Amino acid sequence: MNILVTGGCGFIGCNFIRYLLEEYPQSNVINLDKLTYAGNPSSLKDLQENERRYTFVHGDIADKELVSRLILDFGLETIVNFAAETHVDRSIDDPSEFITTNVQGSYNLMECARKLEVPRFVHISTDEVYGSLGPSGVFTEDTPLAPNSPYSASKAAADLMARSYYKTYGFPVIITRCSNNYGPYQFPEKLIPLVYLRAMENRQIPVYGRGENIRDWIHVRDHCRGVAMAMEKGRPGAIYNFGGDAEKKNIDVVRSILDFVGKSHGLITFVNDRPGHDLRYAMDYSLARRELGWEPLTSFSEGLASTLSWYAENKDWIQELQTGAYREFMDKWYKERC
Ligand code: NAD
Ligand code: DAU
Repeated sequence: MNILVTGGCGFIGCNFIRYLLEEYPQSNVINLDKLTYAGNPSSLKDLQENERRYTFVHGDIADKELVSRLILDFGLETIVNFAAETHVDRSIDDPSEFITTNVQGSYNLMECARKLEVPRFVHISTDEVYGSLGPSGVFTEDTPLAPNSPYSASKAAADLMARSYYKTYGFPVIITRCSNNYGPYQFPEKLIPLVYLRAMENRQIPVYGRGENIRDWIHVRDHCRGVAMAMEKGRPGAIYNFGGDAEKKNIDVVRSILDFVGKSHGLITFVNDRPGHDLRYAMDYSLARRELGWEPLTSFSEGLASTLSWYAENKDWIQELQTGAYREFMDKWYKERC
């Protein structure tokens, strides 16, 4: 089985490639990644050096000629599209790349795959397309789309394009929507690694608003298993929600991390809220349970402990990232806040 994974040098993509190569011995994986500030080939360095079933291609999902050539040259049977701009705060700062990659790039991949008749396409989306919940309720796959950030709007646009491709052309696309992932190789702009790294340097921990916003945390390996199941046995045209059964207020996540590493809660600094900040996400994943036999297996406490231990043991990986475009954005964004 020849599978194109896009965005495989990012957080979830690299975990997914590892999962595929471990669990699907017949698979050959081609990783197409543009290597933006969030793409880190060293996350897959061991595979690059030793795994003959793994091929890396440096390029853009919006490049029509390249994508078409890959489909033909590798005889691709499946495409799994993780490639995206993913950080909500960056999308607030400047939405342009979110349109180019998340909308235009996803469209280009689907169009090339449709024309060249790739038989399976999994598009990775997010719970953020549904907008925000109040104190109660959950998102189902039928919840109307109501994105509130330029990031989530760009993801919703791609989801709608995927839907139209299924309805109009019978293009065999499956959409997966997942809640907040955490785990190894997550880029340290996202809450959990950001808090861990700042805590280890005894720096202030910026908590937006009062930290009352709620996210449903899922270990990345549980998400990867769900995507693989959707790839293998999902219904073309279907949408599958994945969630972690772990709703937490941000302030409680931050306190848990500080407790784990033995740092003072005094580092917590409440800063101006994120504009358009969604209050709460929670996922009903009963469709994935029913049709795919999927459910999350890792509890938040176990997953958080193993994740923080991973960061402690992989300082080189972190140091390599904290340069260039990463450093510029982080300095600018948090200078005004902390
Ligand atoms: P990430 O930011 O860690 O990685 C994104 C990867 O995509 C990087 O390797 C980057 O170089 C690559 N990329 C960006 N633009 C590209 C382009 N034009 N062509 C090729 N490659 C490109 O992202 P992540 O957190 O791993 O998220 C992966 C996917 O999962 C995204 O589609 C995201 O919307 C979705 N998702 C993420 C979460 C989460 O909690 N992180 C939850 C639900 C869904
Ligand atoms: O829900 C799925 C989404 O989860 C994915 O689609 C996105 O790609 C991914 O980035 C993530 O989005 P969030 O905005 O929820 O993740 P982030 O880690 O940026 O923030 C988590 C919560 O923590 C959110 O309520 C904002 C808050 N926060 C974040 C940062 C970076 C802070 O309070 N302080 C911070 O410095």
